[in-house]
Amino acid sequence: MFAARRPTGTKQEIYRELRLQARGLFEGERDAIANAANLAALIYGGLEDVNWAGFYFLKGEELVLGPFQGQPACVRIPVGRGVCGTAAERREAVIVSDVQKFSGHIACDTASRSEVVVPLLRTGRLLGVLDLDSPSRNRFGEEDRAGLEILAALWIQSSD
Ligand code: SME
Repeated sequence: MFAARRPTGTKQEIYRELRLQARGLFEGERDAIANAANLAALIYGGLEDVNWAGFYFLKGEELVLGPFQGQPACVRIPVGRGVCGTAAERREAVIVSDVQKFSGHIACDTASRSEVVVPLLRTGRLLGVLDLDSPSRNRFGEEDRAGLEILAALWIQSSD
C-alpha cells in the first residue's frame, strides 16, 4: 500500500512533494470519489497544523460533504453561506486568517481558527470546493492557496 510520509521544508517544497505523491496516487485511477478520498488523506497527513481537510461537492444550490479527514462536519452548506459557500459563489479561493472575525463562518470543529477554501472548477463549471481548517490563526497564506489550487487542478484532471 502507498505509504505517504510527511514532507518537510519550505511550503513550496512541501506542496511540490504533495503534488508528486498525488500524481502517484491518481495514476491509473479515475474514480472521482476515490481520488478525492486519497487527496484528503494526503493533505491531512502531509500538512502540519491542519485539523480538517476535505471536499464539498455542488449539488443543486448546495455544497454537500464529500471525502474528508478530521472531525465529523456539517453536511450541507448553501452556496453563499460560510467560507465554503463564499468561495463557491465567488469561484475563487478564500483565505480566512481568523474564523472568529469572518461573519457567517460555519463552525464544524470548534478548534478551527483559520481556514482556506479553494473552488473546484472544470472548464469554468463549479464542481465543489476543497476546504482546509487549522487550529492556529493565520495558518494559510498565498503559498497554500497556490499549492492547493494546483492539487485541486490535479484532482480534476485525473478524475471523471
Ligand atoms: N467552516 C466552513 C464549514 C466547513 S468546515 O470547516 C469543515 C465554512 O464556514 O464554510
